[in-house]
Amino acid sequence: MSENSTSHPLDPLQRQEIARAVEIVKRDSGLDSTGWFETITLDEPRLALPEFNAAPRQVPRRAFVCCYEPSSNRTLNGIVNLDEDRVERWQNVKGAQARIVPDEFAAGDKLVKQDMQFIEALRKRGITDLETVLVETWAAGNFDAKEEQGERLAYCHCWVSNDAGDNRYGRPIANLHPVVDLRRGKVIRIDDFGVVPLPPDTKSIRPTENLRTDIKPLEITQPDGPSFKVDGHAVEWQRWHVRVGFNQREGLVLHNIAYEDDGRLRPIMRRASMAEMVVPYGDPTGGNYRRNAFDTGEYGLGASLDSLQLGCDCLGHIHYFDLFTHDWTGTPLEIKNAVCMHEEDFGLLWKHTDAKTGKMRAVRSRRLVISSICTIGNYVYGFFWYFYQDGTIGVEVKATGIPFPSAIATGEKSEFGTLVAPGIESHVHQHTFCFRFDMSVDGPGNSVHEVEFEAAPLGPENPYGNAVKINDRSLKSEAGAARELDLAKGRYWKVINPGSKNKLGNAVAYKLAPSSNALPLLDKEAPVAKRAGFMFRHFWATSFDPKELYPAGWYPNQSEPGEGLPKWIKADRSLENTEVVTWYTLSFNHLPRPEDWPVQPVVYAGFHWMPDGFFDENPALDVPPGNGG
Ligand code: CO
Repeated sequence: MSENSTSHPLDPLQRQEIARAVEIVKRDSGLDSTGWFETITLDEPRLALPEFNAAPRQVPRRAFVCCYEPSSNRTLNGIVNLDEDRVERWQNVKGAQARIVPDEFAAGDKLVKQDMQFIEALRKRGITDLETVLVETWAAGNFDAKEEQGERLAYCHCWVSNDAGDNRYGRPIANLHPVVDLRRGKVIRIDDFGVVPLPPDTKSIRPTENLRTDIKPLEITQPDGPSFKVDGHAVEWQRWHVRVGFNQREGLVLHNIAYEDDGRLRPIMRRASMAEMVVPYGDPTGGNYRRNAFDTGEYGLGASLDSLQLGCDCLGHIHYFDLFTHDWTGTPLEIKNAVCMHEEDFGLLWKHTDAKTGKMRAVRSRRLVISSICTIGNYVYGFFWYFYQDGTIGVEVKATGIPFPSAIATGEKSEFGTLVAPGIESHVHQHTFCFRFDMSVDGPGNSVHEVEFEAAPLGPENPYGNAVKINDRSLKSEAGAARELDLAKGRYWKVINPGSKNKLGNAVAYKLAPSSNALPLLDKEAPVAKRAGFMFRHFWATSFDPKELYPAGWYPNQSEPGEGLPKWIKADRSLENTEVVTWYTLSFNHLPRPEDWPVQPVVYAGFHWMPDGFFDENPALDVPPGNGG
């Protein structure tokens, strides 16, 4: 199963490949000197199944490149063939605005601080030291304002740092929103909805005094090393096979997830990623309706990955993957320790005690964790993928950082938020994530089922009223496969392979086991709701199409309504015995608490994919008792 560590077609682009792609685009695409690079990433080949994890055939290395050209206000993208040293395809994506890249954030901050009207608005608020001010150029969204159509805009939010200098969001400047034309590098106007006093100085986020002293060392040792094997970006751990991939938009991507069952490598998913997210805020006053962060599609999670630190972000025997992204000039940037991989003890896996003989077996569970963390402005998202010895795949979001702070005058009541500190409120919002799974449960011919339970009425065949009917039905095509959770029915979804039967004669399956979730709090007619249609269903299934990667469409920055999943499923393609992609929308509501200030303890949200008749019996019977036998 091993492969040459530098030659797998799904390996992320290396430093010299990014540099090469930039050279070729500059030479051959016609991009003018104002143009800059939004994305330079691997154009992922989709390998035929026999090559799923075994040594693959050589396919040309291709880069997907997206550029923005300010002089013409065009977003351009295409495919660069690195082996053949040429641009294969190049197009102007009409009406699209490229993501806002980190360099634009930096440029926007600088630009706004040179604006006299902004300086005057700060002075009115008693702020004179521009060094302490932070201006963030958020994507403006699309609110159908005529003067904004076709322009590349940012709607800014502003803060003043605390005196300790470790919280740039420490003292929010309420009601002050510069509107920036990112293309021309101009402030268009300053939205000033009235002065709210600056909150008092806030406490340090990183105190150095009065730290608790009663913590004894907790050390995780693996004297014989970890149980995983790594070859380049390929990982093997306890029967699991998976490849670690990356792009600027989604960040961590997993490829070719498979389980070795009795010597046979059985595919489960071709590709798994967190494909889009949106965080709509619930305060309609002033300019706050503009806060609706599509962090993946508007800014890029992969462009914002942290370099992780051993002993802080990660504990134990860690394998780190380094990755390459780039700045807007196309200069490659290395992200050291971008992806963390390690094993974790996870409590009990299974146990049985025989009451008569007293014989007992308790088997401890261990999981493989592959994760990355990104910092986008005030907020921090960790994306954690777990592989368990019983065939379960876990997906977890860890949300931390600083809840978006606004200022409120003393004595005023916060109708759409809570006070988190004197003079500081934080508004109610939702975090919504949409995960994409390119399924391949035991091969490419998959179908989608919905399972729910129903209490049968009392009657001659149900005299005690305990009968529960199991309704397992096929979701035959896309339009009918956009579904919501139903607590009363215990609803969940399965992907089955009708061509592969287990020893009981049933089609093998993986089931999507939801945990807590939420429904959108937005009105369906809200402009942001129409651009984030994916959030109105928990489950979607589509027939595989290589162009359908992002549930709010390819370019959500200032996008038109209706892009992505709601549009694609209108084709109502068959979901029977075909190549199926499933999408799961995970939301949680966040009304910040005083305990979330000045930095929020991690909030967890997640779900699982569990084998459901994929194996013939408990696949973890062979895990030895105790910790590692
Ligand atoms: Co939040």
